[in-house]
Amino acid sequence: MTLCPRFYDRTLHSVSHGSIERWNLDKAVLPPLNDENRTTIRMNVQAKTAEFAETLPAGVYAEKVLSVNHYTDRLFRFSMTRPAGFRFRSGEFAMIGLMVEGKPVYRAYSIASPSWADELEFFSIKVPNGPLTQHLQKIETGDTVLMRKKPTGTLVLDALTPGKRLYMFSTGTGIAPFASLIRDPETYEKFDEVILTHTCREVAELQYGFDLVSEIRNDELLSEIVGDKLTHYATVTREPFERSGRITDLIAGGKLVSDLGVPSLDPVTDRGMICGSTEMLKDTKALLEQAGMTEGANNKPSEFVIERAFVG
Ligand code: A2P
Repeated sequence: MTLCPRFYDRTLHSVSHGSIERWNLDKAVLPPLNDENRTTIRMNVQAKTAEFAETLPAGVYAEKVLSVNHYTDRLFRFSMTRPAGFRFRSGEFAMIGLMVEGKPVYRAYSIASPSWADELEFFSIKVPNGPLTQHLQKIETGDTVLMRKKPTGTLVLDALTPGKRLYMFSTGTGIAPFASLIRDPETYEKFDEVILTHTCREVAELQYGFDLVSEIRNDELLSEIVGDKLTHYATVTREPFERSGRITDLIAGGKLVSDLGVPSLDPVTDRGMICGSTEMLKDTKALLEQAGMTEGANNKPSEFVIERAFVG
């Protein structure tokens, strides 16, 4: 992979955040949290994770939390140290975990930071009673988080054939792998235009994406590389906003391309990446196929790719 040489030498602090949790969480029944037991549970979980970290099995890293930022009561982001020697391609995911009741519990999380960053960042939902996120949402700076050593994933530039315009279609925390890719200089070496669509139920859930793009614009090095190639197209489905509607409806009705002022989806020039819920993946994939595009994979690059790891 070719990276802008300057990116080898710099430290980027908390530019962004992102990750994803599997939707098919188990339905473990646990006591409701209140102010009294919340701290105790958090400390128990963290103590066990830190203890476990001292006798780590092969294949697991134990990393320190560097920052936590809560966006809404459903969304938060955190960053943690990047292990020496941990390599990943922008857009990939890793298994993130904590010790819960004596056992490590892991979920797939897209790495939201780009491959050149010093820190690892993640964007997470908070699921009440979610086996991992009910604990993970309480992490604080200095806590220990586990990560399995091998990242993987299909939302990588290598899985796409060369094209002119790259669409990244996301809903909810599905923006995370794209948070990584839109900060990777290689994305802009390979594509003339990068269109990030992000659809959420409510306006507050879009905030992470707005922060991310404004941080890119305010970053001297990145803004120079990104130039005017990146378009952020944010829509909301359950309250009034300047742009509204599901991305699938906006594609099917032609509104997306007319708003963007670009030609209809075309397999010769356009490439796509999709990340969201199972239904969103299925419906968006059908629209891209209708436009004549075919699905690719790491071992067979083509015109669009889907991240299936996160859905049930
Ligand atoms: P909607 O509000 O109409 O359900 P969720 O939080 O459930 O994952 O949803 C995130 C966003 O994805 C919401 O705006 C939701 O719209 C939208 N969405 C849900 N299902 C689909 C689908 N099949 N195709 C496109 N967008 C979808």
